[in-house]
Order: sequence, then structure tokens, then C-alpha cells
Amino acid sequence: MPAPKYFLTSYGCQMNKLDSELVESKLRQRGYEAAAEEGAADVVLLNTCSVRQHAEDRVWSKLGKLRVRKRTEPGLVVGVLGCMAQEHKRYLLSRMPHVDLVVGPSAFGDIDTTVEAARSRNQEIAAEREPARTKHQVAGAGVVAVDQGVSGDTIRRDVRVRPHRSQAFVSVMRGCNMPCTYCIVPTTRGEEVSRPIADLVEESQRLCDDGVTEITLLGQTVNAYGRDLTGQNATLANLLRALHAIPSLRRLAFITSHPNFLGPDLVTAMAELPKVARYLHLPAQSGSNAVLKAMRRGYTVERYLARIEQLRQQAPDVELHSDFIVGYPGETAADFDATVQFVRTVGFAQSYVFKYSPRPGTLAADLPDDVPEAEKERRNAVLLAVQSELTLAKNQALVGQTVEVLVEGESKVAGRLSGRTAHHRLVHFAATDQDLIGQYMPVRVTEALAHSCVGELLAHDAAQEGRHDPAEALS
Ligand code: 5AD
Ligand code: SF4
Repeated sequence: MPAPKYFLTSYGCQMNKLDSELVESKLRQRGYEAAAEEGAADVVLLNTCSVRQHAEDRVWSKLGKLRVRKRTEPGLVVGVLGCMAQEHKRYLLSRMPHVDLVVGPSAFGDIDTTVEAARSRNQEIAAEREPARTKHQVAGAGVVAVDQGVSGDTIRRDVRVRPHRSQAFVSVMRGCNMPCTYCIVPTTRGEEVSRPIADLVEESQRLCDDGVTEITLLGQTVNAYGRDLTGQNATLANLLRALHAIPSLRRLAFITSHPNFLGPDLVTAMAELPKVARYLHLPAQSGSNAVLKAMRRGYTVERYLARIEQLRQQAPDVELHSDFIVGYPGETAADFDATVQFVRTVGFAQSYVFKYSPRPGTLAADLPDDVPEAEKERRNAVLLAVQSELTLAKNQALVGQTVEVLVEGESKVAGRLSGRTAHHRLVHFAATDQDLIGQYMPVRVTEALAHSCVGELLAHDAAQEGRHDPAEALS
């Protein structure tokens, strides 16, 4: 019997991508194989995101297509995982009979058993009946596993299942306790739960033993790490220090930070620890105090600026990245202008800009969504243009300099590879040697673009000769 095949699509944040790796590793342990394309899969899983309507719309439309496919393939298993499973479980179960699994982010620990149960059931249905069934005939009650309170992190991670040989994400906490009025995350992902430092050191050590040299720690408010762990001295600063001691680790990043938790200990750790990435993702969301207050972000523009001032004094090379929401209910043109001014004042190296999208069940959803779509569009475009101008200027300042990039893979342009600097800048350079992927290479920047740089690879031969491959060293 050929191994059953799965196809998993991940939507949304890095946390989802990491959850998807966990799901894949459980399925592989169970004897499943990844299908090369969705059409060849026996099990189609969607790991979903609810943070904006657009992300949900993509999944609803995909589910529409899968409904059609299932009419002729009743043995197919369709699973909705992640935030939409949590948020829309009733609707999915009652109105979408072609969906077999609805599994929230807290219940991935048993995903292989759940998938297997759905597959045997659907195979029985398919064997008993002619293939072309109506949706009601193939429908089951749905194998449901939501809210079981089982954290995926209680499973010992199979470190070999990861997309990149030299890079890995490590989830340090789940959930979010912040009261941001627009955000669905606290509903879908629940309360903050941090993992003990010892577990994180152990997992990171295993990843590094398997060839990882860059770790990115993940948490919705990663710099609030540990506040639910009493008496363990578990802070992000202490965690960074503990991981920094792993000899073969070369880069250590963490996303996403909240301005309220940028304390002196974290600033000092960033200043003192050379392996820590030279960027800080510190979403401001708005540059208007009125909007920040309405969003319940818990800081003012002045307080944000004061916090980053300390960082700039102690670690002047660290660049700031942000997220902004435009068109929040009640945001006036003057509020928006304040945001534009704020972006210029801080001089962010990179910003993600989102049009406000009401999420049912959040506090902001009760407010009138009163900024017209065309105006949201305009503000979005203006802010992106300002940010691009700032990013381009920072990239231009790099022209002529030599930077160290961790080579990540092939660039979209043929004949080029690309990688990232410690500041998370994307650099493309002419090279075709696939063996460079996963290595740290010197590249001289020759050209600045709005979102990346182009450069030339230096010292290729020297690097080849002196190449240290941790995977080879182990075998
Ligand atoms: N509408 C638009 N953007 C949102 N974000 C979170 N919720 C919403 C929403 N309802 C943005 C925030 C957050 C990022 C991950 O998504 O900027 O930092
Ligand atoms: Fe959402 Fe605010 Fe938590 Fe970020 S800090 S995940 S925006 S509630």
C-alpha cells in the first residue's frame, strides 16, 4: 500500500508556519508523505489565519473549491486548522459538511490520530458507495478537536522537520494577554503560556546539533516572555543570554515585541550580545495618541520614543521595524498625518501597513468602520510610499559596504542567490552554487532597491575551502 499523502497550506504568521511544521512531523511519524501538489493528496489541510478578513476570504474560497473536488472524491479528507477553526468551528461543522476536521491551535498534539480517524471513515464511505455522491451522503459529523487544552509544545519537537537547514523558529510562548481592541489573536490563541527556559535551551541545542545556526524566537508579545512563569527568572533577556551560550549558534532573533515590555534588561542584552539580530520588530500601530488610546495599546507616542531612545543610546546599530494599521474607526486625516510624521521621526527600516479590518467579536467591531475604503486605500499607499523612501535611503547608505549574509536560497531572478544580513536586509547577488545556501558569506553591496539590495559575492573560494558544515561534522 502506498503511503497516504497530505498537502498542507499555511496562511498568516510565522507562528502558523511553525505549527505547520509540527503537524507535518506528526503526520510523517504516522507514515504519511507530503504530496507534490494538492491534487495528488489524500488529506488536504489548511492552517488558517483570522487576523484580517482578507486572510479568511482566501480560505473560504479554497474551501469552495475543495467542496467541488470532494463530490467526485469522497475519500478525500479536508481539514481546517488554526485560528479560523477556533473562531468559526460552529459554522464549519454545521454548514460545511465537506470539512472533516476542525482543529484549533491548542489541539495539534493529537492531529495525526484525528487525521487518521477521518481518513478511515472517509475510505469506508468511499468503498461502500459510488464515487459521485452528494455532499450530504459523504458528509460526516466532522471529527472535531478544538479547545482540548493540549499545547502543541508539550510534544517533543522533531527538529529534523524544518524547511531550512540552517534556520529555525522556536516558539517561546503562545497566546496573548493584551487588550488591543482590533485584534482577534487573544480570542483565537488564548492566554499567554510561556515555555520554561530549560525546554527552550534543550530544543535549541538539538536544532543547533542538527545544523541550525540562526534561531528566531516566536511569540505574539515575545518580550513579555516568562511573566506567567513565577520564580524562574524567565525573561526574554535571560533567555537570550542562555541561548547565546550555544557555541554553534551564530544569529539569534526574536519577533514580535510590544513597546510596553521594552525594559532596560532587554536593551542591555541587545547591546551586549553580539549574536542577537540587529533589528527590533516593535509595532507602533499608530503615531497618533488619540488612536493609540482608542486601540488600548497602553502607551503614547512620547513613551514609545523614550523607550527607543534608550535602545539607540546603548545599541545604536539596532534598526527598528513596525506594523501600522490605517483607517482605524475614528482615525482622522490629522491622526493619519501624525502617523506619517512619526514614521519619519523614528526612521523605521521597515514597516508593514494594514488597512483596518473589523474582526467580529473584538471591541473595535462594535464601532462604526467609518473610514471609507478608498480613504483607507489612500492612507495605506501614502504610508507605504513614505516607508519605501526611508528603506531605500537606508539601503543606499549600504552601497559600497561589505555585509555578511546568511544565504537563504535562490532569488527570483535567475542566476542569483539571496540572503539576509544581521539587520534582516535582503541582499541578492550573482551566484549559482547551491552549496552556498546556509552559509554566511561576505557580499559587497553595489545597488540599492526599495526593498532589497544587490551586491557581489566576495571571497567565494576562500569560504569554500574553509567551509564548516555542522551536518558533515556530525555524521
Ligand atoms: N485589522 C488590520 N490589521 C490588523 N492587525 C491585527 N489586527 C488587525 C485588524 N483587525 C495587524 C497589526 C498587527 C499585525 C500582525 O496585524 O498591525 O501587528
Ligand atoms: Fe493582537 Fe495586541 Fe496581542 Fe499583538 S499585542 S497579538 S496586536 S492583542
